Amino acid sequence: MIRELRIHTFRRLKGIRRRWRDEFYEEIKDIAKHPVVLRMKKYPHHGSTNCYQHCMNVAYYNYQWCRFFHLNARAAARAGMLHDLFLYDWHTHAARTGDYFHGMTHPEQAYKNAEKLFKLNSTEKDVILHHMWPVTLFSFPRTKEGWITTITDKYCGACETSRRK
Ligand SMILES: [Fe+2]
Ligand SMILES: [Fe+2]
Repeated sequence: MIRELRIHTFRRLKGIRRRWRDEFYEEIKDIAKHPVVLRMKKYPHHGSTNCYQHCMNVAYYNYQWCRFFHLNARAAARAGMLHDLFLYDWHTHAARTGDYFHGMTHPEQAYKNAEKLFKLNSTEKDVILHHMWPVTLFSFPRTKEGWITTITDKYCGACETSRRK
């Protein structure tokens, strides 16, 4: 009886996970397929992960967590996909431009690029502009989706950095 209940619960959770994954992609596919967004594939980010894959990872976890907590999962996913749309290789950025504060300046750059391409709501703006907290000490999120992104971004970054090639 308990075993059957466990199997039933496991299958149900697997079904929900699959459905949420499909619904996640529906919410972000216009962004994910945009030619400017696709340019992020050219830029290495953490370890062997490029910027596009990192943004996709953050968007995915944002969607799952925000949906679980009944927050705005669509906005969190879409902004997650755009949060690092700064469009340069940050490893060589300081030497090329003299900007030694990429960690603090790139959210603004990503937001400027993103707002030219997509209509962003206030939650999406918050997620993009404040995802680097606590690096950007006094520039912290105002929304729950923004706070979740400060965690998913670091979680994904840590996993990507520690993953072997
Ligand atoms: Fe970032
Ligand atoms: Fe990031």
